[in-house]
Amino acid sequence: MQIPAVGQEAQLVGIAMLFCCRVCGTTYRSEEVLHGFMCRTCRSPLEVCSYNVEWNPQGVGISRYHSMLPLKPVRSLGEGSTPIVPIDMHTVKVIFKLEYLNPSGSFKDRGSTVAISHVFQVGAKCIVEDSSGNAGFSAALYARVLGIDPYIVVPSGISYSKRVAIEVAGGNIVEAPSREEASYKAKVLSSEKGCYYVNHTSNPLYIEGYKTVSYEVFEEVGEIDAAIVPVGSGGLFIGIYRGFNELYRMGFIRKRPRMVAVQGVDVAPIYERLYGSKDLGGTSVLADGIRIQSPPRIDEIVQIIEKSGGMVTLVSDSEIIDSIRRLRDLGFIVEPTSATAHAALIKVVEKLRGMNVETILVPLTGAGIKMLPQLKQILGL
Ligand SMILES: Cc1ncc(COP(=O)(O)O)c(C=O)c1O
Ligand SMILES: [Zn+2]
Repeated sequence: MQIPAVGQEAQLVGIAMLFCCRVCGTTYRSEEVLHGFMCRTCRSPLEVCSYNVEWNPQGVGISRYHSMLPLKPVRSLGEGSTPIVPIDMHTVKVIFKLEYLNPSGSFKDRGSTVAISHVFQVGAKCIVEDSSGNAGFSAALYARVLGIDPYIVVPSGISYSKRVAIEVAGGNIVEAPSREEASYKAKVLSSEKGCYYVNHTSNPLYIEGYKTVSYEVFEEVGEIDAAIVPVGSGGLFIGIYRGFNELYRMGFIRKRPRMVAVQGVDVAPIYERLYGSKDLGGTSVLADGIRIQSPPRIDEIVQIIEKSGGMVTLVSDSEIIDSIRRLRDLGFIVEPTSATAHAALIKVVEKLRGMNVETILVPLTGAGIKMLPQLKQILGL
């Protein structure tokens, strides 16, 4: 396929992709998922229908693994191939993966490059996305580059720096009173304007992109025993597991990692589903990226935790602040949602050690450099 020049009009390049509901078996063509990725028959989240995968890494970034993906990204902004920094801590080897060094400062770019390439391929001229920050910034950036006009619906409480980031990336901001209302408004807006609703919280193409985190870890480190991942919609969590699961099925690794999901103490739907509701006290408002009350793929997240011998860990604002500081002292400047994975590591490391876990993947998902004034305030400096 021709790589489009900046600003060139999106065109229908005629690449067909099918989306399947694994629950009721309904199949949808690309043009039938323009306004969302939930099955219209049974309300389950859709998947890309099975496609051939082959392990044949070539080049750098996400495209290195395009033989494991449903499409080859149209244009790379340098996403993926993020550094891995192993550090011996608390008698385990922690594999920090610096996802905050992606083009828009978060792992979302791995998903956006795949999902927005698909938008380009279906020939849509504009997108609508609802986001508390990182996904909106990332989608806006990838859309602009392909000549697609981005509308980003944000909750009115969005952090100032994330709002500015979306604006600078060329996103048209639309406000909604809350995260839930932003989702509703985005869907309505996409129908009214005839735009593609990116819907990253249930879009399976984001999960496809996130699988590449695992491929990179496998190529550089090999097998790992556990992964500790912040869970909002659970896209990254599912993507990392599916990536390792594919490598396991292909016979490259002997085991899949135990998957540890991290949530905040006051928005913890996965924890509640598994262990029942429990008032742990405290707040977790700083973890704005994982405040999702009803993750569309909650069933799969729970299955992965059970199947992999994993667990859910909850963290509070005071633990997050402590981890922002400790990560800073290791040389990593991350945003609060990202620090939740480190806070969880401290809480569960002894338990994991008792399960013979020696190597733990901790993706550092979002950059602190986007919000230095707030970090200064949070750290009381
Ligand atoms: C920095 C950061 N980490 C983790 C997450 C959670 O990602 P997911 O929604 O894929 O579970 C988000 C989501 O916005 C985020 O912004
Ligand atoms: Zn269905």
